[in-house]
Amino acid sequence: MSDALKKAAADAALALVAPGMRLGLGTGSTAKLFVDGLGARVAQGLQVICVATSEATQAQAESLGIPMSTLDLTPELDLTIDGADEVDAELRLIKGGGAALLREKIVAAASRRMVVIADAGKLVGTLGRFPLPIEVVPFGLEATRRAVAAAIAASGANGELVLRKRPDGTTLLTDGGHFILDAHLGSIADPERLAALLNQVPGVVESGLFIGLATAAFIARPEGVQILGDIAAQRD
Ligand code: 5RP
Repeated sequence: MSDALKKAAADAALALVAPGMRLGLGTGSTAKLFVDGLGARVAQGLQVICVATSEATQAQAESLGIPMSTLDLTPELDLTIDGADEVDAELRLIKGGGAALLREKIVAAASRRMVVIADAGKLVGTLGRFPLPIEVVPFGLEATRRAVAAAIAASGANGELVLRKRPDGTTLLTDGGHFILDAHLGSIADPERLAALLNQVPGVVESGLFIGLATAAFIARPEGVQILGDIAAQRD
């Protein structure tokens, strides 16, 4: 996605921010632009308190002087703004391309609203073209990998599971000290069933399927920003 489209989506989300809000800050290149814009508004006097979804976002926000908290001190958030790797028409997401899915999901679940910022290339008819990140504990990796493969097969999907590496060839560790298995599924016909089956596998910490969490999305296209869902909607 071009930076201009990412920025258009980020700017649309910035307009939702009101003084006094408790915000969740996403991770990734689109969320980074949102945090840049938020930093500029904080520098102009906007008062908010924020929780980051990754160490990278925490460092960026601190460098911009954005007041930061934790979910221990601020366990309920008004609004989380985050990117996504895929979004479907029902606001189901694949996330975790930036390896932050676990904290992203915890922060989104603690928020009354989660608004996704993305370009139209992320909007799909069926989830699964983007490899599904599955965060697993390092202990028992091969046994967990087999159980994950069985869960995927039981859901009706199939595809290769690839342990995520860093560019230098070492195994990637998430902020939580876990590994990521990327499931190359091509399409996920039943995301709810797959998510439920993966959640039952011992050793799986979280999957990158975000279901029932996003309340709206800003989808940026060259001709303008499309709104999916209800930007005022709140989860109970
Ligand atoms: C990080 C994520 C990101 O939100 C997702 O990868 C999108 O990133 P980008 O805005 O760089 O395309 O889930 O874990």
